[in-house]
Amino acid sequence: MYRRVIRPLLYRLGKGDAEVAHEQTLHGLRRLSRVPGAVSALSRSYGSLPAGLARTVFGVRFPSPVGLAAGMDKNGIALPAWRALGFGFVEVGTVTAHPQPGNPKPRLFRLVESEAVINRMGFNNLGSEALAQRLAGYGDLGYPLGISIGKSKVTPLEDAVEDYVTSLQRLYRYGDYFAVNVSSPNTPGLRSLQDAGHLRELLTALHHEAAALSTDPGARRTEAGTGAASGAGDPKPILVKIAPDLTEQAIDELLGVCTEVGVAGIIATNTTIGRTGLAPADEPLATEAGGLSGQPLTEISAKTVAHIYAETGGALPIIGVGGILDPNDASRLFDAGASLVQLYTGLIYRGPGLVRRTNRHLARQL
Ligand SMILES: Cc1cc2nc3c(=O)[nH]c(=O)nc-3n(C[C@H](O)[C@H](O)[C@H](O)COP(=O)(O)O)c2cc1C
Repeated sequence: MYRRVIRPLLYRLGKGDAEVAHEQTLHGLRRLSRVPGAVSALSRSYGSLPAGLARTVFGVRFPSPVGLAAGMDKNGIALPAWRALGFGFVEVGTVTAHPQPGNPKPRLFRLVESEAVINRMGFNNLGSEALAQRLAGYGDLGYPLGISIGKSKVTPLEDAVEDYVTSLQRLYRYGDYFAVNVSSPNTPGLRSLQDAGHLRELLTALHHEAAALSTDPGARRTEAGTGAASGAGDPKPILVKIAPDLTEQAIDELLGVCTEVGVAGIIATNTTIGRTGLAPADEPLATEAGGLSGQPLTEISAKTVAHIYAETGGALPIIGVGGILDPNDASRLFDAGASLVQLYTGLIYRGPGLVRRTNRHLARQL
């Protein structure tokens, strides 16, 4: 039904402009979130979770280990709808300290034959202050909320730490965990923050800030999400999201820093700047600048998760993301060592049924 009827209609929105289809879908979900009864009707079709899926990871209770990846609902406008579609958690953002328009359009491309997407959105978002205000308006969402923070384009790299810390301060009370995005290919210089020296400085500052905020009762209380974070007084979990394009040596160095500073986990992976695994029909679009997601990432993300798991002896929880187009792709990430998974591009190509099928598949396996 999704592939034969709904997807072709969505693709025609905005005369085939992928970003228009994305915006209209998101705003449709937002409107639906406000209609009494609509969320529960949707939830009856997609949102009921089979028994046995819930799990606690880095001190947070997840009703299902299948989450919505960062970038889909950057400004958190449709949060009640995601749980109704079967997601067990949502990562909003990436947001930056300063609101910013992102890169010039077009900046989102569908590579249909490859079930892939290239994006160079460039962190278009309303800013962390606006996100804090929006999150203040939600009650208990019934699932944990992750908040992804990144660097504003106007902020020079040498001031990046302050930019991230500002967003953490504004958003601390609303998140169940925080994702430090140092891996988007679309903000110049951002990925150099994955280097050991830069990363140590950034993570140490964020950890100090989280520790300080956790002793402030007003700032600590989780007001969106489920409030399910670890014990009172513990700083909330901070995770690092990495690129799939790092060498194994660079990953190992990064993991050394993460262990030393005490991050709660790794999110692997962001989009790739590589262009392997594309169908011949999509080759013309391969020259578009930006990060590639979807099917061509399936192998790469599983390999990266397996490497992180082996290198850390399973001590650091991993959120596996990249190329889940089918429930078996999610299983592969769990087999490689992930504790949770996320998806985005699979939702574009396979629709919300993918989330329901993945939940059922995982429940059967467990
Ligand atoms: C249009 C688009 C925008 C994205 N924006 C972000 C973002 O703001 N922050 C982030 O950490 N990841 C972002 N991502 C990356 C996804 O969160 C995910 O890591 C990646 O797409 C791989 O998963 P997938 O193959 O299931 O899409 C974006 C992906 C897409 C397709």
